[in-house]
Amino acid sequence: MRKGQVNVFILLLFVSLSSASDQRWRKAMMSAYNGSSSSSSSSSSSSSSSMMMMNRGGSSILFPIHGNVYPTGYYNVTINIGHPPKPYFLDLDTGSYLTWLQCNAPCVHCIEAPHPLYQPTNDLVPCKTPLCAALHPPGDYKCESPDQCDYEVEYADGGSSLRVLVLDLFSLNYTNGIRVGPRLTLGCGYDQIPGTSNHPLDGILGLGRGKSSIVSQLQSQGLVRNVVGHCLSGIGGGFLFVGDGLYDSSHVTWTPMSQDKYYSLGNAELHFGGKATGIRNLVVIFDSGSSYVRLNSQAYQALTVLLKKELSGRSLKEAPEDQTLPLCWKGRKPFRGNKGNVCLGILNGTQIGLQNLNVIGDVSMQDRMVIYDNEKQVIGWSPANCDHLPRFKSYM
Ligand SMILES: *[C@@H]1O[C@H](CO)[C@@H](O)[C@H](O)[C@H]1NC(C)=O
Ligand SMILES: *[C@@H]1O[C@H](CO)[C@@H](O)[C@H](O)[C@H]1NC(C)=O
Ligand SMILES: *[C@@H]1O[C@H](CO)[C@@H](O)[C@H](O)[C@H]1NC(C)=O
Ligand SMILES: *[C@@H]1O[C@H](CO)[C@@H](O)[C@H](O)[C@H]1NC(C)=O
Repeated sequence: MRKGQVNVFILLLFVSLSSASDQRWRKAMMSAYNGSSSSSSSSSSSSSSSMMMMNRGGSSILFPIHGNVYPTGYYNVTINIGHPPKPYFLDLDTGSYLTWLQCNAPCVHCIEAPHPLYQPTNDLVPCKTPLCAALHPPGDYKCESPDQCDYEVEYADGGSSLRVLVLDLFSLNYTNGIRVGPRLTLGCGYDQIPGTSNHPLDGILGLGRGKSSIVSQLQSQGLVRNVVGHCLSGIGGGFLFVGDGLYDSSHVTWTPMSQDKYYSLGNAELHFGGKATGIRNLVVIFDSGSSYVRLNSQAYQALTVLLKKELSGRSLKEAPEDQTLPLCWKGRKPFRGNKGNVCLGILNGTQIGLQNLNVIGDVSMQDRMVIYDNEKQVIGWSPANCDHLPRFKSYM
């Protein structure tokens, strides 16, 4: 690897690829062109997952993750909110920065929810607060009712949530067992439009960059460092953590974030089989709210052409009858899992209106820790065993 060049691996391009023998796949790889790496990525490959797991007292909060890329298509965590605390299943989303619950205020349009709708407090967030301002584009910030802050979030799948910010108690446990109950701002959403990837949910846990994120709020109350990370297991599930107590920084490959509202490393070039393709200046973001990788039409086109060329004359044959994803193949013997085929976990982002944004989704972030350090403004990753929660004395 050239000095100063950063590589973001897009691994596990294939869903339900379980037989190791047929895994002669070249890995598509994206490399950030203009980024400058703060550490070499070779250091990470040798680290074992057990070395990764550290227990530095109560500096982190840990949440088990449920879900998988296929067939479920999303990941959720359970968060206890309110007084007395009630559980809610929230979708994990590093691509947005507001946490909201479907809310009985009463609800005008709600989508199906696994739990009874959240009953909001009367504790409204006033309009003239930095946190409210952070949710509105500058200049477009009219406080029509000064005692409340309206919000609207829209997602790439066309879904949205609309309404008002409230303050309520979050019931959280540090990894050492100590309990905290901070008052945090969340959205009381009582007007939702379902997106194309609609499924039952209580709300969304927005972990993206910005003052309004739960992590940033916890930091401003002195409870954790403004760091969030996830470890998604290839067999489903995994864990989410907030704070910096669960990893050894020296075993993590760190790369500076670019100046962007998303978690991004700046411009990238598409590599295929270790070789540059000449497709450059791809703006790539890390988005746990997306199950698959999305490339813009040009990059997607180039990748599929290269991939088909690579596969021609091999035992894999295209399976156009399999509608699971746009590109699926069957092997000589069926693979384990869905219909016995394998499918490409990279899709055409232009199709869903992403324009020039390219997304690294869950399928390529499995079996590694991905860490977003908003204080040092770096993103890091490291191989890890995400099948089990890291163990702590208080848990044993
Ligand atoms: C936090 O710990 C308490 C026991 O100390 C437990 O009852 C509770 O379920 C835990 N909450 C979460 C969200 O893990
Ligand atoms: C979310 O996670 C829980 C487990 O905590 C699981 O039972 C549930 O099916 C998941 N999905 C939804 C839609 O809530
Ligand atoms: C690198 O970034 C600069 C601006 O920061 C841009 O003008 C240039 O085209 C980029 N080059 C590549 C190869 O991405
Ligand atoms: C990607 O989607 C766009 C919009 O639907 C379409 O025009 C384009 O042909 C697609 N690209 C490929 C390579 O399929």
